[in-house]
Amino acid sequence: MSKQKLVSFFFERNYMVSPGVIQIIPEDFDYESFVEANDNLERSESTIVLDEEMFKQLLPFDVKEDKVSVSQDFVTNLEVVHSYLDKPKKREVKDFVLYMKARYKQMKKILVQRGDLISAISISKANGKQAKEPAAIIGIVQSIGQTKNGHYMLELEDPTGISKVLVSINKEELIEMMDQIVLDEVIGVSGMTGDNIIFANQIYFPDLPVKEYKKISDDVAVAFISDLHVGSKLFAKEEFEKFIEWINGNYGTDEQREVAMKVKYLIISGDLIDGVGIYPGQQKELTIDDIYGQYDQLAEYLSLIRKDVKMAICGGNHDALRLAEPQPPLSKDFARAIYTLPNATVVSNPAIVKIHGVFDILMYHGYSYDYYINNNAHLRNVGGYNNSLAVMEFMLRKRHVAPTHISSLTIPDIDEDPLVLQHIPDFFVSGHIHYDFKTTNYKNVQLIGACCFQMKTPFQEKLGHENVVYGKTLVVNLKTRKNTVVDFRTN
Ligand SMILES: [Fe+2]
Ligand SMILES: [Fe+2]
Repeated sequence: MSKQKLVSFFFERNYMVSPGVIQIIPEDFDYESFVEANDNLERSESTIVLDEEMFKQLLPFDVKEDKVSVSQDFVTNLEVVHSYLDKPKKREVKDFVLYMKARYKQMKKILVQRGDLISAISISKANGKQAKEPAAIIGIVQSIGQTKNGHYMLELEDPTGISKVLVSINKEELIEMMDQIVLDEVIGVSGMTGDNIIFANQIYFPDLPVKEYKKISDDVAVAFISDLHVGSKLFAKEEFEKFIEWINGNYGTDEQREVAMKVKYLIISGDLIDGVGIYPGQQKELTIDDIYGQYDQLAEYLSLIRKDVKMAICGGNHDALRLAEPQPPLSKDFARAIYTLPNATVVSNPAIVKIHGVFDILMYHGYSYDYYINNNAHLRNVGGYNNSLAVMEFMLRKRHVAPTHISSLTIPDIDEDPLVLQHIPDFFVSGHIHYDFKTTNYKNVQLIGACCFQMKTPFQEKLGHENVVYGKTLVVNLKTRKNTVVDFRTN
């Protein structure tokens, strides 16, 4: 018998063993006598967290508290690089104009780094040019249309004016790009001038340069999970409890437990709770029907995770936050229990955190993805909901997480568009989709569609989401960059 068997003994009786208990068990602990003495312990109907005090009461003898000291020759560190703080302010209609101007300015800065656009001129200047002169412009996409002959006609706007852009049907490469352009994004065009029109030769998305693919010498790892939906009847409680046992080194194969003990960072990317009043009839699907209770339960779970794991947590569309993005960090009122966790860092959605002093992680829950998957032909053709990584790559190429106005509610910040991706991360993680976890690299940025811990809901069933998968974590070792998946599903 071992610590692991002791954990299973309690697990079978619906008790979650806190890490503190594991630490106070002495080397010479007599497991057999303990089990014999407590064999009549009944299974609890609801999960009970077994803390040190409760454990001591079950013991027939006193335990010496010799705390286990974990030796490590590195320092773990999770810093916030960027987290949005709401500036409460009455917004006016003219703020939208200023907001788009701010976006234009930020995106222009990124686009002119594409060599060919360094000589881009204002649209009013381009409109003033003689016909058949070369010109490059940068503008916000106002409309995308097609002529009877199959040519495409775009309208681009900058602070000085509007120009039409004709994309000839004969320019195959450009035609292929047409279903990847979305309204309100900022792109660059170079070509020849006509009468208030540019005949496009090239079209440019802001995109990313290739990033350095980082590795470090410390043998540490980061785990990714998302969409816990605590409070929902369909919250995958059993799997999540196994996840906690695993991360504490008490569940899984030897290999999986070895992976677990290297995890020093845990990233949770939104929809932490199921929320209340998110969709009609949701009340019937809740086990905890108030927001405080849902966050309290979540905090209780997260408090069981060993304290040397540093967590970054952001909200999603089910959390008790405004829907408009960026969503500020969780409410200090509703989610106050989360703020008491010493190893948790609560950030906005989106946000960037730096782990181990080296890797920047862009966290974005992914609420806008529904809009693009449902409305963009290119994304539908490459797999729709089954290919969330394509959506994430799409956003990186646009350097914006929700460029089209109606893809997400927007609060018009007049100084800066906070949804522009100015900073290029090492990891980009999203949740929201509830399909199987996925990962790939795009220009050395590791994209991760994190797995949820909620079983398929009737609402997802109604929408035809066949491929909901839950109860897995993806672990990335930062020394080797090896990915490991641990699956906690019961069957
Ligand atoms: Fe979700
Ligand atoms: Fe969501």
